[in-house]
Amino acid sequence: MIIGLPKEIKDNEYRVGLTPAGVRALTDANHKVVVEKNAGEGSGFDNELYQRAGATILDSADDVWAQGEMIVKVKEPIAPEYPRMREGQLLFTYLHLAPDNELTEQLLKRKVTGVAYETITDRRGTLPLLTPMSEVAGRMAIQVGAHYLEKMSGGRGILLGGVPGVPAARVVIIGGGVVGTNAAKMAVGLGARVTILDNNLDRLRQLDDIFRGTVQTWASSGAHLAEACKRADLLIGGVLIPGASAPKLVTREMVRSMKKGSVIVDVAIDQGGCVETAHATTHSDPVYEVDGVIHYCVANMPGAVPRTSTIALTNATLPYTRKLASEGFKKAISDPGLAEGVNVYDGKITYKAVADSQGREYTALDKLL
Ligand SMILES: NC(=O)c1ccc[n+]([C@@H]2O[C@H](COP(=O)([O-])OP(=O)(O)OC[C@H]3O[C@@H](n4cnc5c(N)ncnc54)[C@H](O)[C@@H]3O)[C@@H](O)[C@H]2O)c1
Repeated sequence: MIIGLPKEIKDNEYRVGLTPAGVRALTDANHKVVVEKNAGEGSGFDNELYQRAGATILDSADDVWAQGEMIVKVKEPIAPEYPRMREGQLLFTYLHLAPDNELTEQLLKRKVTGVAYETITDRRGTLPLLTPMSEVAGRMAIQVGAHYLEKMSGGRGILLGGVPGVPAARVVIIGGGVVGTNAAKMAVGLGARVTILDNNLDRLRQLDDIFRGTVQTWASSGAHLAEACKRADLLIGGVLIPGASAPKLVTREMVRSMKKGSVIVDVAIDQGGCVETAHATTHSDPVYEVDGVIHYCVANMPGAVPRTSTIALTNATLPYTRKLASEGFKKAISDPGLAEGVNVYDGKITYKAVADSQGREYTALDKLL
């Protein structure tokens, strides 16, 4: 199969769909990979590395899209990319179609086969291609939180780990899933006093086993959250109800009760945020203040560390890319988890939640094959 790797053109997007190592795995399996010139530049991978991995470098995005039978990307296509998509082309990327009427229309009109990273499931029913970005964001949440707790950044002027004779900062993490667990690992590593709240008691039991007493777990309820907010120096929001907007668990009142100069990092902001006073921010203007509390609510945190994120993403996507390339689309989707990723096929919406959220017709994939 000919696999096309275009450069990402969304604002401030420096990730790329495949690392040179990922390309090497595909060329070793006798596939041809065409890479747009400088596609990997933002992640620190130059053209020569891709060439050495067996790729052909092409000058323009048009050429890559024209030659690629499968296009591997990171972000959903945006307007300049629409005319490049063509009938029967396989597009493997994050699509986030539910809120994107225009992109859905384009994919349907052009009869593109759209396989979305974010809806692929594994045997455990989890979302293996979302997990790496949650790992990155969870770990980053503590780094950025520590930064904004510094006086020069407007924070309380405290060190997360304290020093001998001075107590460590209190980190409160709401949601003990992938984001929460990774945030906790970093916070514990820095010596902070960490509390995780979750409404799933089994998850709290697992966390208790994993962290062996180095974190406190607390069943999530309004009263416990209110108490935790008052104590927090750094509050991390990592709640998810799959497919739904995040519940506003931290109310305006709770934010008002927090210490001046404390910091909120609402990672769940990409689903609307779990803090009432949170609204999405960008890497170029990441924070604002409400009632003396610093809010960091960047919706694409992994974009700040494109090299780590690109490698983590390729690690997770490569087995699926290889399967699609080697077996072809129709055989590869006999894997039910991969079939879950198919959002659009032959001009029809094949993912129910996308159809429902746009009030469009849903067609089961197996009816079309
Ligand atoms: N901002 C970013 O750049 C970025 C990057 C990656 C992920 N995210 C987002 O971070 C959020 C968390 O992702 P994840 O992968 O950790 O999800 P996850 O499913 O692994 O974890 C979510 C946790 O929230 C818990 N939860 C649900 N309802 C709760 C409640 N009422 N009280 C307390 N806990 C509750 C669940 O039990 C679960 O343990 C998602 O919204 C995800 O999209 C954002």
